[in-house]
Amino acid sequence: MSSTKPIGIFDSGIGGTSIWKEIHTLLPNENTIYLADSKNAPYGQRTKEEIIALSKKNTEELIRQGCKMVVVACNTATTNAIKELRSNYDIPFIGIEPAIKPAANLSETETIGILATKGTINSELFNRAVESFSNVKIIEQIGFGLVQLIEEGKMESQEMTTLLEEYLKPMVEANMDYLVLGCTHYPYLIPQIKKIIPDHIKIIDSGKAVAKQTKSILQKNNLLNLSEEKSRQFFYTNSDSTVLKNILGFTENVAYKDF
Ligand code: DGL
Repeated sequence: MSSTKPIGIFDSGIGGTSIWKEIHTLLPNENTIYLADSKNAPYGQRTKEEIIALSKKNTEELIRQGCKMVVVACNTATTNAIKELRSNYDIPFIGIEPAIKPAANLSETETIGILATKGTINSELFNRAVESFSNVKIIEQIGFGLVQLIEEGKMESQEMTTLLEEYLKPMVEANMDYLVLGCTHYPYLIPQIKKIIPDHIKIIDSGKAVAKQTKSILQKNNLLNLSEEKSRQFFYTNSDSTVLKNILGFTENVAYKDF
């Protein structure tokens, strides 16, 4: 059995395209539909109830468009809403959480840093994960303002550099050797982050792990697309599509949609 239906992917905005890229690289045969809920970004400053309601809205739009599974390409939505999504809709969900485990296992200084949104850092799921790694010192830092600047396309602005320096320098001083990017927007900041932290500090995100998990769940559910036809990739944003087009590096099938 197989399915040519698309994989649905959503994020609070454009950041989850970092996850889409990994999924598309690993599963080039799959059709995908990406929703950027930029109108409602950032999710990280919202209440759990709001994040659940927005995640349901995005999921229902993807189901309406015929998706066979949903990838929640947002740490904030996953840590706050994945349980509700799984119990409300009868399709497989893939979530994304900060990659604490590999960082904690590989750290030699026994100190790791995590940069994530307020919504993720304050969530129960995240705190349970942190508690299970008592062998390492975990420095948590909320990335106030980062998602907003990325949504405005200001990745390389002075404002961004100033915020990143403020957030990262204390972690460097505390001797972290791994930095976990706990927000799907943040991989787009890696060039800027590398200018601030020393070379020996490794940066980890969850993109590749999520793509592998997506493949494995599709296989398990007999949902892989085995068709020979060229796959199709659609991207929708409920805000100005310019930044989404810029971050993707193409304009084909990238459109505004009210959802
Ligand atoms: N990309 C989202 C995440 O991974 C950003 C959340 C937000 O909008 O604050 O957490």
